[in-house]
Amino acid sequence: MRKITVVGAGHVGATCAQRLAEMELAREVVMVDVADGIAQGKALDQWESAPVEGFDARVSGSTDYDLAEDSDLFIVTAGIARKPGMSRDDLLRTNANIVESVSKEIANVAPESIIVMVSNPLDTMSYVAMKASGFPRERVIGMAGVLDTARYRSFIALELDVSVEDIQALVLGGHGDTMVPLVSYTTVSGIPLTQLLPKERIEALIERTRKGGAEIVAHLKTGSAYYAPSSAAVQMAEAIAKDKKRILPCAAYLEGEYGQEGIFLGVPCKLGEGGLQEILEVELTDHERSELEKSAEAVRSTIAALQ
Ligand code: LAC
Repeated sequence: MRKITVVGAGHVGATCAQRLAEMELAREVVMVDVADGIAQGKALDQWESAPVEGFDARVSGSTDYDLAEDSDLFIVTAGIARKPGMSRDDLLRTNANIVESVSKEIANVAPESIIVMVSNPLDTMSYVAMKASGFPRERVIGMAGVLDTARYRSFIALELDVSVEDIQALVLGGHGDTMVPLVSYTTVSGIPLTQLLPKERIEALIERTRKGGAEIVAHLKTGSAYYAPSSAAVQMAEAIAKDKKRILPCAAYLEGEYGQEGIFLGVPCKLGEGGLQEILEVELTDHERSELEKSAEAVRSTIAALQ
């Protein structure tokens, strides 16, 4: 890709920019932030690491969207983060206003671009971005499933004392307490997890995954996670930039898939050139289906709270 812009140069945004640059996913990596000097300073600092790290992606920052002109892809992290005791939905109004104005700026400077949404509450912010940008659903995709699945995989690897690389899993649904880790699709090198761990242990790992974001907030006290969230967003960007056609759980706008329409929800997606290439509809157990419906209901009520 020629240019990828990260909106918001806080912990998540700046770490995304660093990973994008180090992976050379675009010739130019831009950071835009409303706070004067933050994007400029962090970008220059990152660029000064290039001779040591050995990357040639040019990193720059600005308060102005002019620098983002004609970007191929945006990772949107703008907004306020959770403080201890806050739910993701507490962020709703403030972040909806921010994401709406950011999305309009994006549509203005790069009307053909792809948006990877990261701001919370994730599913609803993806919806706000799609409406405000006027982009088709192929070009607005939310990051949550990759993060939630990464947490789940990391906990399973610890529990079994095996490589994270051998854990395959899918966490669907909204990015919130109602997310749906699919036990029936969780394997260790193809071996169903249910053959390796008793039900109670799996339940405990699922519970820890659901509360994975809050666990980090409780430690940090002044903010929320950023290393794993940025890894997840950049993996999505990589799949798109390199047309890898990866199957990743992402928040996509549903038009009847999984019996849902008019909302974003975490489902298995094929990501490649152009963004969302396909939504895969997989078989679910009755329990998983009803959990996914509950999760969809939670997202729907958050969207309704905005109207
Ligand atoms: C998390 C927050 C950022 O899951 O949603 O860490």
